[in-house]
Amino acid sequence: MNFKDKKILIGISGGIAAYKIASLVSRLSQEGAEVHVIMTEHACEFISPLTMETLSGQKCCTDTFDRSRPFEVEHIEVTKDADLYLIAPATANVIAKVACGIADDMLTTTFLAADCPKMVAPAMNTRMYSNQITQDNLDRLRKYEIEVIDPMVGHLACGDTGAGKMPSPEDLYAAMERRIARKKDLAGKRVLVTAGATCESMDPVRFITNHSSGKMGFAMAKECMLRGAEVILVKAATTATPPQFCQIAEAKSAEELFKTVKRLAVNADVVIMAAAVADYTPAEYVDHKVKKKDGELSVELKRTVDILAHIGARKRPEQFFCGFSMETENLIENSTAKLQKKNLDMIIANSLVDAGSGFQTDTNKVTIIRPEGVERCELMSKEMVAKTVIDRIADEING
Ligand code: CTP
Repeated sequence: MNFKDKKILIGISGGIAAYKIASLVSRLSQEGAEVHVIMTEHACEFISPLTMETLSGQKCCTDTFDRSRPFEVEHIEVTKDADLYLIAPATANVIAKVACGIADDMLTTTFLAADCPKMVAPAMNTRMYSNQITQDNLDRLRKYEIEVIDPMVGHLACGDTGAGKMPSPEDLYAAMERRIARKKDLAGKRVLVTAGATCESMDPVRFITNHSSGKMGFAMAKECMLRGAEVILVKAATTATPPQFCQIAEAKSAEELFKTVKRLAVNADVVIMAAAVADYTPAEYVDHKVKKKDGELSVELKRTVDILAHIGARKRPEQFFCGFSMETENLIENSTAKLQKKNLDMIIANSLVDAGSGFQTDTNKVTIIRPEGVERCELMSKEMVAKTVIDRIADEING
């Protein structure tokens, strides 16, 4: 719900991708944003302003001389207190105009008048997009801190294939969210997050794993990304969808995770170890499928490396390490012992016995433990848990 009470301006110019913006407007409105849609005359050929009015619940502006309220200059009025202005799709023509400060219709006039963060999502024929004139215009926009959302490569409406396809409404939403959802209090920080369950193979068919869904780790990674951090997300097994704008590395087993984390932790300002790591792995890997026989089967297990303890012992004073602790009894005592033993700055303790907490759920009830004390949190969504935890981490590392 990062768009609640935000005032969002969406400019639509005349490209076939205009129809895709309807679902973006609908989603933003449903999340409680005040969405104002501004359309060029050509955009109105592709999709009706009535569609946008119906989905946004706001008058759709298409003409600079149209005044909804007496004595207000609408092209200035609509931009006041705006949190974000996105032009999508942005045609080559509109990009050229706004790059030069031309303001000859409602869209270009409001874009020039708005002093909020601005973004454009180019969508056009691939030869128009790659033309140096368009590229120079986009560079000019970047120079003015107008974010350009790169188009995708794909099949274009004109029949050509290449760069010029507007990203999906979901991708536009994610880019907008990244731009305005949080203050960038982790800008310049490199954060390493691990998530998911490790898998310890016995043979090419079978493995030992656990119930971790990866959702908590993904929520932590997303929260750090929204705050401007460079996030490296190492994911073990998970079926959840990883957040956008994070570098993703994969590590299946505890051993692979150890090698990857050991390498990456050296250059991280913050390490958040949310992965559920196996403490034991089969002592021997059999390289063919083990056939069943009469009687019982015993599998010998050996200890894995405690990754956090290993990197914790090498932690530099300016680094901040956060672990997770899953317990079914003596939550605070056992988790505090892990905090000390692994030389951590924070450990997030969750009890498997609390309703709505733990594996696979979308909610969690955690206790934040630091050397200075214990903070018990209410049951919250995993996103809210991540926000609360990262608030504390940001406060601590920013002094
Ligand atoms: N962890 C790790 N390496 C391991 C096991 C755990 O880095 N081999 C990390 C986890 O990612 C987590 C923290 O240590 O951040 C605590 O994990 P948890 O499973 O709660 O505790 P353990 O240390 O494994 O102890 P126990 O299983 O006895 O509770």
